Amino acid sequence: MKAAQIRSTFLKYFESKGHTIVASSPVVPGDDPTLLFTNAGMNQFKDVFLGFDKRPYTRATTSQKCIRAGGKHNDLDNVGYTARHHTFFEMLGNFSFGDYFKKDAISYAWELLTEHFKLPKDKLWVTVYQEDDEAYEIWNKVVGVPAERIVRIGDNKGGRYMSDNFWMMGDTGPCGPCTEIFFDHGPEIAGGPPGSPDEDGDRYIEIWNNVFMQFNRTEDGVMHPLPKPSVDTGMGLERIATVLQGKHSNYEIDLFQNLLAAAREAVTASGGEGFDPNSPSLKVIADHIRACSFTVADGVIPSNEGRGYVLRRITRRAIRHGYKLGARTPFFHKLVAALVAEMGEAYPELRANEKRITEVLKTEEERFFQTIANGMEILEGALATGAKVIDGETAFKLHDTYGFPVDLTADVCRERDVTVDQAGFDAAMARQREQARAAGKFKMAAGLEYSGAATTFHGYDHLAREAATVTAIYVDGASVQQANAGDDAVIVLDHTPFYAESGGQCGDSGDMRNATSRFVVEDTLKIQADVFGHHGRVVEGAVKVGDTLNAKVDAELRAKTVRNHSATHLMHKALREVLGEHVQQKGSQVTPDRTRFDFSHGQPLTDEEIREIEALVNAEILANADAQAQVMALDDAQKSGAMMLFGEKYGETVRVLSIGSSKELCGGTHVKRTGDIGLFKIVAEGGVAAGVRRVEAITGDNALAYTQKLESTVNGLAALLKATPHDVPARVAASQDQIRALEKEIAALKGKLASAQGDELVAQAVDIKGVKVLAARLEGADAATLRNTMDQLKNKLKTAAIVLAAVDGAKVQLAAGVTADTTAKVKAGELVNFVAQQVGGKGGGKPDMAMAGGTDAAALPQALAGVQAWVADRL
Ligand code: ALA
Repeated sequence: MKAAQIRSTFLKYFESKGHTIVASSPVVPGDDPTLLFTNAGMNQFKDVFLGFDKRPYTRATTSQKCIRAGGKHNDLDNVGYTARHHTFFEMLGNFSFGDYFKKDAISYAWELLTEHFKLPKDKLWVTVYQEDDEAYEIWNKVVGVPAERIVRIGDNKGGRYMSDNFWMMGDTGPCGPCTEIFFDHGPEIAGGPPGSPDEDGDRYIEIWNNVFMQFNRTEDGVMHPLPKPSVDTGMGLERIATVLQGKHSNYEIDLFQNLLAAAREAVTASGGEGFDPNSPSLKVIADHIRACSFTVADGVIPSNEGRGYVLRRITRRAIRHGYKLGARTPFFHKLVAALVAEMGEAYPELRANEKRITEVLKTEEERFFQTIANGMEILEGALATGAKVIDGETAFKLHDTYGFPVDLTADVCRERDVTVDQAGFDAAMARQREQARAAGKFKMAAGLEYSGAATTFHGYDHLAREAATVTAIYVDGASVQQANAGDDAVIVLDHTPFYAESGGQCGDSGDMRNATSRFVVEDTLKIQADVFGHHGRVVEGAVKVGDTLNAKVDAELRAKTVRNHSATHLMHKALREVLGEHVQQKGSQVTPDRTRFDFSHGQPLTDEEIREIEALVNAEILANADAQAQVMALDDAQKSGAMMLFGEKYGETVRVLSIGSSKELCGGTHVKRTGDIGLFKIVAEGGVAAGVRRVEAITGDNALAYTQKLESTVNGLAALLKATPHDVPARVAASQDQIRALEKEIAALKGKLASAQGDELVAQAVDIKGVKVLAARLEGADAATLRNTMDQLKNKLKTAAIVLAAVDGAKVQLAAGVTADTTAKVKAGELVNFVAQQVGGKGGGKPDMAMAGGTDAAALPQALAGVQAWVADRL
């Protein structure tokens, strides 16, 4: 049975049992910052299990794209070394949300396996959680599995509920005891039954896990019973296909055959030679192209953090395996086409993004191929010493300079039975971070020691604060009691209306004063999460710790900033609407002048897309809806569908900013109503890295000033062209045509002029021992004319040595030409230099033609006069 048929048989079976077939969710979980990648079919139903979300069905079935290459469930290290682990795989699952429970779940699984897939009953083993007598009894009494093939497994992982038979999605979330079904691949494969010491072999393979969801585990480790006991199951499509296709390794199934062939072909085309066609490296490559392509399709791009770094690690690991087989140029991206052919039907997002995926992977490959050879040389050198552990410094150097993720280094080492000193690596990494932090200290203010009261921020509602108390002052990075007029200082207040730079929004500026002193605030930055440092200069009097100051934000600048910030939220929403859900924020910077927003997207935005985004944002502005900020629990924010960023560390309570149709987690300051933004205009679009675009936009008076300036430029042009503004493009195009025609005419005239002057000059040539020698000045000639005339003179004089000069002010252009029959005696390069040296220049060229320049036109007549004698000497 082919994989595609197995997938549909599974879904149809559960559909016949009242389950709704639900589409796979993306591998990047929407709005769940607790999860790196979708790692199980149940992820998209997490809130349904928890009772937060309701669906129109209580039974569902899916074939879910999963990635287990980071976070709690990580199989990356096993890929290529076992017959059954993958970074990407498809999980077939059936789910009950407070509907059926253990008995039906077990019966369905058994019926499907033995009656529809027709697996021999005596080849199936099951495990249950040690304490789960109920499941044991169902297997034994209801289904009839003999006791010798039912294994109880307790807390075998070092803690309460830490067990192979107790499944948790992550450190928090729904969980419960499970029962697993194993297939015995037969005695010819090494390995023991589950629970035995050699259970890790490939003989007894877990094919299906049925989880009885009963608890929600919170961060404090407490297990809260779920509102309704539920069922979550997962069967690896690749594993069941292996069994049903009579194979022992997942890589032997139909799904992988073409990918492996494509891997062999691509590696060979890139220089691989004589490698074992069954090399585990090919399996790694075939596995990784799936994980990488699906991840890119869902909006991730290689980077140095979070999901992007996982993608980079997998990509580079695949590249290293190709390199091992001999590939020396990018090959990995070429497998995308084969993958699309194999899986594009079941997962249309692959087909839709084929070009983008190929490009993103190719760029990453090109980048890594620049350093891999040198990195491998260093690593081989370290391995050649025979040491059993690669020291942390070497691993760090490979990481830092050669782009080798540490697990890639470990992967190479493992092939030689060598390990990496991870603690040493971590220490080197920490040291580098520390240095980077120290280098940025003068601006970050993060290095300032502070132990006083926290700063209370009032700037969401107020732009001024009377009588705030100074709790600390720093001058030159050191804590002081007083700063005097002229000092650059950082001042901390107990209460402030100044926003400190964070979340992409720049810090406020303004001033603080009392009866005797004044401090101008240029920027506000956090010293600690809730301690705000006001950076600036004392311009009057002195400021002492304990003084009170009236703090006032520059309202105009702040208003410009908030307009840009609110517009950023609306633009983010519009970008996703116009370009697609793969758009994810990669960075933002909001200042009074503009907003700059980086996001994942594979190609430049078209003019039409930009116009559409502008129209959407301006429509929201015209609708003039309220902006509302609400502080709520992170869970509630997630449930409300607020957009959040992966990799951000959110606290337990978060601020959700709703403005127009956008809802985003944000601590920044915003307009009261969308109408306050005035006008929104995108002014720049470009690429910042592979798969990342950047747009810059302006709002309010900046947008007005921008359009006015554009208008006056166009009006100015129109006046110059004596046309109306609307006629400018046509007039400019016509002028350009005219210029091109004139250029052609000039070139033709120059040719004619050259030949006319050439005719005159022929007569001036002097015959010296059969060689015509000529040194002459051409009026008004440029380099091209000199060269043309030279060619004509050579043709006409047949055997000749010629110098031509053109003068422009004090500057001299020189050309020397010698016909081929004379170059043995006279070299054009030497001849031109003979003249050039006398006019303050030098030059060079070939024996028959050379050019030079000079700066002393006054010396030219004498220099030319010497040519005849110079040539005569050489003949
Ligand atoms: N969620 C369960 C698993 O992933 C079925 O094994």
